Amino acid sequence: MTLRRQDRPASVASGQARAGIVGGMVTVVTHPLVQHKLSVMRDVHTGVKEFRELAGELSLLLAYEAMRDLETVQETVQTPITQAEFPMLSGKKLALVAILRAGLIMTDAIVQLVPAAKVGHIGLYRDPESLLPVAYYNKLPTDIAERRVFLTDPMLATGGSAVAAIERLKEAGATSIKLMCILAAPEGIALIEREHPDVEMVVAAVDSHLNDHGYIVPGLGDAGDRIYGTK
Ligand code: PRP
Ligand code: URA
Repeated sequence: MTLRRQDRPASVASGQARAGIVGGMVTVVTHPLVQHKLSVMRDVHTGVKEFRELAGELSLLLAYEAMRDLETVQETVQTPITQAEFPMLSGKKLALVAILRAGLIMTDAIVQLVPAAKVGHIGLYRDPESLLPVAYYNKLPTDIAERRVFLTDPMLATGGSAVAAIERLKEAGATSIKLMCILAAPEGIALIEREHPDVEMVVAAVDSHLNDHGYIVPGLGDAGDRIYGTK
């Protein structure tokens, strides 16, 4: 995985340029607001309430970036003053899909931005010994093949959960998938790039590595437990 800074060639899409560090299919949103909120989330002293609020706020900021390339079309609008042409969203409808549990906090926030989006859920947990994903639930919009899919999970560690979720989405017919994560490990990004090179990723940060238990270092701990207060 190669990440480059903002002064990269003009061939990179302008949306990615504004986001900060880019490389291949990964956009790292380096905006100071995003980085500040993430730093507070990392703090072991940050409690459940604040952690949850920050995860929601960060999700909105990541979505703002991830949805930068939504199509628009000029439509006629009658303002109180005159009639003129203005951009309105067009193109494929959207689906937000959460990897349970932790991804729920992200879709719950993002649906405020795109209230017409349909929402899907893929239940996976990571076996603590093997670190492999175990599937327990799958409910997707029936017309997912016709929608642009934004898949959410705060943590991309080994990448096993995200790869399994993407496989389910593709089996259901999805052809346009963007993965949104708060924090990613290089190992997880490399796995997505290898298994699903068509899937773009939008993340707030890429950390150093995984520890022996598959946790992201320096990381923020177990996202699900910190969101739901289960540990
Ligand atoms: C966490 C996280 C991801 C997964 C990442 O979920 O939310 O889904 O681990 O790990 P991976 O990239 O190595 O697969 P967890 O299994 O803890 O389940 P939870 O969301 O129910 O807490
Ligand atoms: N899942 C988490 O919640 N945190 C990690 O660091 C790795 C996987």
